[in-house]
Amino acid sequence: MLAAAGSLVAAIWAALHLRTVLLAAVVFLFLSDYFRSRRPKNFPPGPRRLCLVGNIFQMDFKQPHLAVQQLVKKYGNVISLDFGIMSSVIISSLPLIKEAFTHLDENFLSRPKFPMQKHIFNENGLLMSSGQTWKEQRRFALMTFKNFGLGKKSLEQRIQEEALHLADAIGEEEGHPFDPHLKITNGVSNVICSITFGKRFEYDDGQFQELLRLSNEVIYLEASMMCVLYNVFPSIMKYLPGSHQTVFRKWETLKLFVSQMMDSHRKDWNPEEPRDFIDAFFTEMAKHPDKTTTSFNEENLICSTLDLFFAGTETTSATLRWALLYMSVHQEVQEKVHAEIDRVIGHGRQPGTTDRESMPYTNAVIHEVQRMGNIIPLNAPREVTADSTLAGFHLPKGTMILTNLTALHRDPKEWATPDTFNPEHFLEHGQFKKRESFLPFSIGKRSCLGEQLAKSELFIFFTALMQKFTFKPPVNEKLSLKFRMSLTLSPVSYRICAVPRL
Ligand code: HEM
Ligand SMILES: *[C@@H]1O[C@H](CO)[C@@H](O)[C@H](O)[C@H]1NC(C)=O
Repeated sequence: MLAAAGSLVAAIWAALHLRTVLLAAVVFLFLSDYFRSRRPKNFPPGPRRLCLVGNIFQMDFKQPHLAVQQLVKKYGNVISLDFGIMSSVIISSLPLIKEAFTHLDENFLSRPKFPMQKHIFNENGLLMSSGQTWKEQRRFALMTFKNFGLGKKSLEQRIQEEALHLADAIGEEEGHPFDPHLKITNGVSNVICSITFGKRFEYDDGQFQELLRLSNEVIYLEASMMCVLYNVFPSIMKYLPGSHQTVFRKWETLKLFVSQMMDSHRKDWNPEEPRDFIDAFFTEMAKHPDKTTTSFNEENLICSTLDLFFAGTETTSATLRWALLYMSVHQEVQEKVHAEIDRVIGHGRQPGTTDRESMPYTNAVIHEVQRMGNIIPLNAPREVTADSTLAGFHLPKGTMILTNLTALHRDPKEWATPDTFNPEHFLEHGQFKKRESFLPFSIGKRSCLGEQLAKSELFIFFTALMQKFTFKPPVNEKLSLKFRMSLTLSPVSYRICAVPRL
């Protein structure tokens, strides 16, 4: 419902676009009187519908994830927000998030179904699917990731190679001010492409730029009013023109791209030598000729591939953009990272994940970037699949569950300087210190499937760039740490200088 949800992936995060959610709530209130607070017994406390409308006009729309602060203060760690067609519950404490996602996980493994995403993907894929499809697709993706690189290039080598390409592309700027967004996204996306399509794309490849541009557009369009309306009134909206129709068309183009990749793979497919995710998927399809009992069909191949592409690209790219921004703003931190790199790696070889052990400071900096960047502030939504009890509250089947990761990442009881960038949060006596209240990848059986990959990418890309460059604000410009909301919380576009270190 509510949020814009063109893709399986975008659905997740766009759904959390609180402004979108609230806009939908307003629409409900004004256009229909059908919704009553039908709260079941012992449901978590929360504002009454009308109060919510009252709050909407006071809210800071640029910081939607902070908007409910007062409600949390008033009602506690488990609060309900009623959006009419779906009641949602927001959980804000570490013990309760753990309880829901690890102890009671069986009842919390599904995703809510949004009309827009249903229209485009029909509940296929990896990210917004539920039940058997999700189980099969997730297991298969994990297995394929694990098998990757056996005998051939390891995943780590691919990341290292791509880091070289990215450093070259950034070097071409010759220390002049530039916006690193596209280059970073291209590099990160190439890692996923090498897994799914078995190839990377040059940074000036027209067709690939087009694909990245399209992905970016759907991410933003899906937060538009027409898309929100579609999720609220699909049966009416499908007859009307508007940006929701544009989103549908753009998704068709994205699917077509993958489907062409699929066709070209089929031409020279050799079952003995799977090259990538698509080849491995063909093998699985051949094992299950009866298409009615399995999710291994072409639709899921396309959707799961797009899911990996979307989930793996914008997240990692946004985190790296935050990293370069924080380094440019905090030169003293950057100097310490440089010193550690020079001491442990030097300039003669590429960084690899085994260096992480001996680089506690750099590791702490990356963690701190993730804590402050907080790119998925309300996690991905879940749906309760059977009546459950959490912290004494009754959560009926069908309730949407949001978990407030911001509450963990900015908890004043956990962090010495919760709102300030400070790598010491992850250090103790010069050693790296793990922190419990740090869950950027979520937890449990439905947590981020790409966590290991993402961590390797963040470490290798970041360290490789820091090995080669000093990042600085352009002369006489002050950098802003403001964020904007789309699929993720990412920095507003900025320009920096990458000055070569040698
Ligand atoms: C810094 C980078 C990343 C962050 C912060 C991140 C974070 C997350 C979060 C919070 C979720 C929702 C988990 C939940 O519902 O509990 C998620 C799901 C997912 N992520 Fe990531 N992610 C990152 C990178 C990646 C990468 C590189 C991939 C590449 C394969 C990836 C693939 C996925 C997939 C497929 C899901 C859906 C899992 C499912 O529904 O079963 N992510 N991610
Ligand atoms: C999430 O937690 C933060 C920090 O405690 C709080 O300011 C914000 O209002 C919370 N958001 C929601 C949606 O509960």
